[in-house]
Amino acid sequence: MPHLSGRELEYIEKAMEGSWVVPLGPDVDAFERELAGFLGVDGDRVVALSSGTAAIHLGLEGCGVKAGDEVVVQSMTFSASANPVRYLGATPVFVDSEEETWNMDPALLERAILDREAKTGRRPKAIVPVSLYGMPPRMAEILEVAERHGIPVMEDAAEGLGSSYGGRRLGTLGRYGALSFNGNKMITTSGGGALICPDAESRRRALFLATQAREDWPFYQHEEIGYNYRLSNISAAIGRGQLTAVEEHIAHHRHVQALYRELLAGVEGITLHENPGPAFDSNFWLCTILLDTRLRVKGEGEVEWPAGNVATPGANVEAMRRRLAAEGIESRPLWKPMHLQPVFAGCPSYVNGVSESLFSRGLCLPAGPWVGDAEVERVAAAIAGSLEK
Ligand SMILES: Cc1ncc(COP(=O)(O)O)c(C=O)c1O
Repeated sequence: MPHLSGRELEYIEKAMEGSWVVPLGPDVDAFERELAGFLGVDGDRVVALSSGTAAIHLGLEGCGVKAGDEVVVQSMTFSASANPVRYLGATPVFVDSEEETWNMDPALLERAILDREAKTGRRPKAIVPVSLYGMPPRMAEILEVAERHGIPVMEDAAEGLGSSYGGRRLGTLGRYGALSFNGNKMITTSGGGALICPDAESRRRALFLATQAREDWPFYQHEEIGYNYRLSNISAAIGRGQLTAVEEHIAHHRHVQALYRELLAGVEGITLHENPGPAFDSNFWLCTILLDTRLRVKGEGEVEWPAGNVATPGANVEAMRRRLAAEGIESRPLWKPMHLQPVFAGCPSYVNGVSESLFSRGLCLPAGPWVGDAEVERVAAAIAGSLEK
């Protein structure tokens, strides 16, 4: 559930007074400027859009992705990282994760690029690393590989608003960066997103495509296919209200992670996902744990999956999810890798077992603004209580 700063209504009312109930207006402009300020980039590089998915779509278009191309996408992600590749008629090439960040493995990325070039005679057109659960990918290494092969990076930072890598906010590290303001994200505009562009010119291009690709004539003139992707002014007003509390939101997520860390420290067989080094500063949008495969959870033998499921969470993970659910605690397996998704069957993939192992061992715990200390204590106690002695 989103947390409201208390100032959203004030911004909405002002927008209503000016009849700015349209997909453009002063709040959209101001939201972009304020977001740019938060990210530490020039105001003329940010375009507010109707979703993070739309931002990825336009970012890939800006990278020059066209029908028939290939795009390297992190496999361990939510489907929205890969779907826009399909919208453009291109093919996602999935690359597995490395163990510490759970994000794109730079060495495997390079192998994939070389192999695609050997097999197709062409290089992939873009690379999409993801900040899964807010954790920054190994961006220095990824950017190095990308540069060596002359391929632009479209950073999917939908889950990483407020995280930073090497002191820079996520979303600003690749050629393009996508953010999401969906209801469950670090800030919300109810639904929305933003594309961080390399410069004012590419922003103009993204804005043009986001507003139906209307040519600059007094009458409607269209020479390209456009989209209706602009953020509404009312949504932007909500976003401005949210931005007044963004640092508090981030601090809260980090506090929840710290409390889980403290309370689960003594529980053998459970590990929390943590920043792997000083360059990484996750917003801990979601708090996640891995269960040792040897860990036995009460009721584990009773778990059975419907026939035909080839990749499923481990039996102890599902048993724990059910035990927590029985106590009114929602948890969820880690995202199922894209190379295991039926919808992407047949897409090339370069795997090393990491994302499959994470998927079979991991669980997302309750986190976010409405999870307070008492709830974290209850969840940690329920986790400990679910284990066979
Ligand atoms: C990794 C990732 N990429 C992209 C998106 C898409 O964002 P949106 O829901 O705003 O379209 C999401 C969230 O939904 C996400 O988690």
